[in-house]
Amino acid sequence: MKSLFITKDIEKVHEETRDDIHGLRRVLGPWHLLLLGVGAIIGAGIFVLTGHAAAQYAGPAIVLSFVLAGIACALAGLCYAEFASMIPISGSAYTYAYYTLGEFVAWIIGWDLILEYSLGATAVSIGWSGYVTSLLRDIGIALPEKLTSAPYAFNPESGQWTATGAWINLPASFIVLLIMTLLVIGIRESARVNAGIVVVKVIVIVIFVVVGLAFIKPELWKPFIPANKGSFGFFGWSGVLRGAGVIFFAYLGFDAVSTTAQEARNPQKDMPFGILGSLSICTVIYIIVSLVMTGVVPYTELNVAAPVAVAIDAMKLPWLQVLVKIGAVAGLTSVILVQLLGQPRIFFAMANDGLLPRAAARVHPRFRTPYVTTIATGVVVAVLAALLPIGIVGELVSIGTLMAFMIVCGGVLVLRYKRPDLHRPFKTPWVPFVPVLGILSCLYLMISLPRDTWIRLLVWLVLGFAIYFGYGRRKSRLRNTNQP
Ligand code: ALA
Repeated sequence: MKSLFITKDIEKVHEETRDDIHGLRRVLGPWHLLLLGVGAIIGAGIFVLTGHAAAQYAGPAIVLSFVLAGIACALAGLCYAEFASMIPISGSAYTYAYYTLGEFVAWIIGWDLILEYSLGATAVSIGWSGYVTSLLRDIGIALPEKLTSAPYAFNPESGQWTATGAWINLPASFIVLLIMTLLVIGIRESARVNAGIVVVKVIVIVIFVVVGLAFIKPELWKPFIPANKGSFGFFGWSGVLRGAGVIFFAYLGFDAVSTTAQEARNPQKDMPFGILGSLSICTVIYIIVSLVMTGVVPYTELNVAAPVAVAIDAMKLPWLQVLVKIGAVAGLTSVILVQLLGQPRIFFAMANDGLLPRAAARVHPRFRTPYVTTIATGVVVAVLAALLPIGIVGELVSIGTLMAFMIVCGGVLVLRYKRPDLHRPFKTPWVPFVPVLGILSCLYLMISLPRDTWIRLLVWLVLGFAIYFGYGRRKSRLRNTNQP
């Protein structure tokens, strides 16, 4: 039983991060990390979900939902920053749990992070396929419908799967395999491509905002918080809260910065900068974009797959339409890139600890990337993206991530109590308030998600238990080296 809660000796962190042992290449500077964060954050959330949340739950007050979700993420972000600077190992929340709450919790979190990263990449690549197909159609290229959708769709109301008539979502698999190849070739190359894409998407967003300002009709913001429709979550303040739960997805990704800790030149200083900097920039962008969107068209009209496009229709500027679709495709591409970069590094850390087969920890001799886990992740995500509908994956991604955030906030508390003496290059301010509020706000957002999502999360965790007890526990490096 004791071995379940066995933790790593934090004094040994410097050994684990020795470059000659782990073999990854330390090339990322502070700006790379900041751009990786922005690359991972701005994507389907703002380009797709904002409209649904405004139209169904919050109205113009979706802006307040963004503020609330931003605060919850900032609380978790401050805790991530403390850990990422203190334990600069690539496994992110998995690793932090290992040092504070023990191997078993660490495994559960590592397993749970698959939902955030692999399933997140799956969801966003399906969204990517939708945008690219529509962009190509705009310029006169029609891809066959049979090859651009999943074969089955899921109806959450009836709980039924129905055939769509399509065979496979080829563009979704294509982008995943393309990015996988880039990620195998090198971290420096990947960070460069990401930086280029981020610049494109941010420029497009700035153009949208600047042009949109001229079309704002302030009367559309009145009432700013539409009256509640009689049940919880439908407008009024409860709608603002429900909206925050839905658009939380838009903030996911800042934590992915921490998975590159072993490739950062100066992780102690630059990790907090990358995590908190990207989160701040994106919060400001989200607030402004949602203000413009709800100021240009009545929020009731935004319940569509491409709400930004509806806002542009209202401006009657066709050139901006194509530009924004390009921006959206760029946005989604970098989100997939960073998620497919984060997942293998978490597997890499887990394999180094013996919880996954050792072969998964292999680093490519020439490219110096964790190529085994990168290829394995890419192939699985490509298959899922080809066959699954988007709805089934989105909320699972959010609940999985919220659980990881809670553990990280809890971990900061535990370690402050157990090891107050440790050197912390970045300290979460106002402990215990920040971590406790972080835990409570994540818990609240989790509770706001549907019951089915909870059931899927539990099924996933039970599968994780089975693998741990069937494999990881026996092979665990820490457990075996600690036994007499
Ligand atoms: N935050 C990412 C997005 O909105 C996951 O696409």
